[in-house]
Order: sequence, then structure tokens, then C-alpha cells
Amino acid sequence: MSTKLTIDTNALLHNMRVIKDLAEKKNVSVSVVTKGLVGNEALVRLLTENGAVSICESHIENLIKFENLHVEKWLIRSPLLSEADEVVRFADVSLVSEREALKKLSAFAEAMGKTHKAVIMLELGELREGCMPEELIPLCEYCLSLPGLTLHGIGTHLSSINEIVPDESNMTALADAATEVEDKLNIKLPLVSGGSSSAVKMLSENTLPARINHLRIGEAILLGNVVCYDVPFEGARADVFSLTAEIIEVKEKPPAPWGELADGTILNKDSGLRKRALVAIGKQDVFSKYLIPEDPDIEIVGDTSDCFIADLTECQKPYKPGDTLSFRLKYNGLVSAMASDYIEKVII
Ligand SMILES: Cc1ncc(COP(=O)(O)O)c(C=O)c1O
Repeated sequence: MSTKLTIDTNALLHNMRVIKDLAEKKNVSVSVVTKGLVGNEALVRLLTENGAVSICESHIENLIKFENLHVEKWLIRSPLLSEADEVVRFADVSLVSEREALKKLSAFAEAMGKTHKAVIMLELGELREGCMPEELIPLCEYCLSLPGLTLHGIGTHLSSINEIVPDESNMTALADAATEVEDKLNIKLPLVSGGSSSAVKMLSENTLPARINHLRIGEAILLGNVVCYDVPFEGARADVFSLTAEIIEVKEKPPAPWGELADGTILNKDSGLRKRALVAIGKQDVFSKYLIPEDPDIEIVGDTSDCFIADLTECQKPYKPGDTLSFRLKYNGLVSAMASDYIEKVII
């Protein structure tokens, strides 16, 4: 396979250690979100053998695959009702915001003679998973009433589709919600899970409220990136993953297409020539908007299902067919590259 994703395990483990050390100094435990590795058992095993005591996946299929790994397993995409039995069988902890899910998880856990840990998710502005604040106490109370479950904590998820960042206001709201649950229900919550990689900023700046004692961290460990702010954390390695792909064609061509479109529009041929290349990564592998060329003079100008087109006119190097180009990846590109059967994974 000519298209390769090289994974530098030293860099990966380095990022995990730096994040864990930073968090542990503030009494915050970290679950490593491994979902971006798309079920790659060798890599997940490596993390678990080198300090990851807890991993998070969004697909139960991966936790089934990792059944023999000795690590606490979280399902962080809230359980599908249709998969509740497998969730209880293969996950130790799940993030839950629906009463029906709690009920099913408990029923299966009871039948299997197990207790499953539930973390109740609270909506704090991102508009993703989570109950609204007024539902929190009733849901926690319901969870406590179910024989197959333990209430492991409460949590929130930010910085995803709407890129709301953790700040003093929403993190204090989470901390206060935890105190309210504890006071009203006369319990102690083991975990208050304050979010994901974007919270690394508050962690570094020492502004995370003390009551937040758990984070679920993916992208910062995999890519060294503080999500939403798009900056590396201090000491981060951004070189864990490197994607290389072969150039198929290099030609001097007019700068824009010409001919007739289906709606009758006529495009005229422009003068001038640009150096254009076809490169062997397509949308079936990674959408080009998630690729960051190592050579900053490469401009990606379009992609098709099986290759993308780059403008190489400004490049110093005289690229030719058969040469390879290297790219760093954004998170969504990493996920699809890891999932692509057309990309060889080279673990070093
Ligand atoms: C519920 C939940 N928590 C935590 C994470 C980790 O996010 P990040 O990769 O930004 O650290 C994700 C996303 O992967 C998620 O869906």
C-alpha cells in the first residue's frame, strides 16, 4: 500500500504522560479517549501498558474487541437502548442522560449479577448530550434507586459541535450541581467529569474548580492539540501521526476549468499555467480539508473520491510523479485515516 499513516508511539506516550502528570498534580484523573484510534488494538494496548488506567470508546464494538485489556472501560457515546446488554457486558462505565437507558442498563446488570457505573450527563450549553439542570436530581435519584447501577458521578461535554469552551461559569455550574446532588441525595459522588481536551487550558492555568476531578481526554493526547483554541499544550508533540501519499500526475494546466456545465453555463479558458498534481488520497480515506501539508507551499484545491488535486506552483521542490507528500491530520482526518482500509498503518 503506498498511502501510509505512520504512528510515532514515543510521541503518543509522551503526550499521555504530560497530560496525566499535569492533571494528577491538580488531583484530576484522566480517562484516555481512544476512539480516535478506531479500534486499533495494538495502540490501545500500548497505552494501557504504559499508564492509561481508563479508556473511553464511543462504539461498543471496540470495547468488545478490547475485552481482554485490563483497564477500566467507558462508553462515552451514551448507550443505545438496543445495545444495553452488550454495554453492561463489555463496559464498566457509561455516560447516560435518559431514564430508559438507566432502566435497561440496570435490568441487564442485575440479570448478569453485575453493577454498572453510570455518569449522568448535564447539558451546560453545548447542546449535545445531557439533561437540563432541572432533570439532574430526579435522574440521579432514579439511578440510585436501580439495583444494577451505581451513580459514579456527573459530567458534561462541551467543545464539540458548537465549540463552547469550558470556563469559570460552566465549570462552576457543574461543580455546584455536584454539590447539590450530594447534599439533596445525601451521597458522595466519586467523579465530577468536566469534559475533554479543551479543558486542558483551564488545567494548565489552574482555573478548573477543585470539585472537577476527572477529564476524558482524546485529541490533546493523540494530536497534542487543545481543542477549540487550536494550540498545542505546553510540551505537546504534534507529530504522533504522519500521513504520506504518492503523487500520481504533475502537469502544467490552466488555472481554472473550461467547457460547458450541465445548466448551460460556459466557462472560458483562462490564460496562464499552474502546476497541478493528483495525489493518492481521496474522500473515501480523508477529506482534504482535514489534511495539513508539511510543505506549506502546497495548496489543496479539490478532492474526489479517490484522489485530491494540489496546486504545487509555489513549491520550491520540483515534485514529480512517484514522489510522496506528507501531511499532519486534523482530528476528523485522523479518525477516517485510521478507519480506511486503503491506508497502511505503520507503528514505530
Ligand atoms: C463524550 C465525550 N467526552 C470526551 C471526548 C473527548 O474529546 P477530545 O478528543 O476533545 O478530548 C469526546 C470526543 O471524543 C466525547 O464524545
